Amino acid sequence: MIVAIGCDHGGFVLKPAVKEFFEGKAEVLDFGTATETPVDYPDIAFTTARAVSDGKAEMGVLMCGTGIGMSVAANKVKGVRAAACNDVGSARMGRAHNNLNVLCLGGRVISPDQARPILDTWCSTPFEGERHLVRVNKIAAIESSTFSTPGPGGEEGRVVVSTTPWCSTRSAWSATKTRA
Ligand code: RB5
Repeated sequence: MIVAIGCDHGGFVLKPAVKEFFEGKAEVLDFGTATETPVDYPDIAFTTARAVSDGKAEMGVLMCGTGIGMSVAANKVKGVRAAACNDVGSARMGRAHNNLNVLCLGGRVISPDQARPILDTWCSTPFEGERHLVRVNKIAAIESSTFSTPGPGGEEGRVVVSTTPWCSTRSAWSATKTRA
């Protein structure tokens, strides 16, 4: 399991707890930032979300002040489904119904102690599929019809559901055509 993580200065306070949470569970790809010096959250959101979109990571965690800016920016990357989930219930529903592949947290909204159960819930809650898969696929169809830029590799894509031992159901954007 590979997880891409990134934060701006507003989410920096959560980063140690997030990294600690994944110790022994997943390999973490850290896309910054490394200090509390202000940075622009869209830059971090793009590189982190792109790692998920490209399949370099199976999921992502982004942290900013609220989780909102990171989620808005990350959702501009094809195949990414990101949302700010600053409570356990949102994290559960975000996985079960929306098949989130990027969790966004707010360092000015929750504490590191509050982040841990959210991460735990998000990672252990499977996507329920069925009617929710139909709806998530409709989001992917909207994405395909409105994005002017191609997806990873320039191919058309679709949402797929796969199983891993650690997080029983997750999805990723998957190319339907192979690259030449
Ligand atoms: C930075 O001050 C703050 O705007 C950012 O961390 C984030 O909360 C934006 O959504």
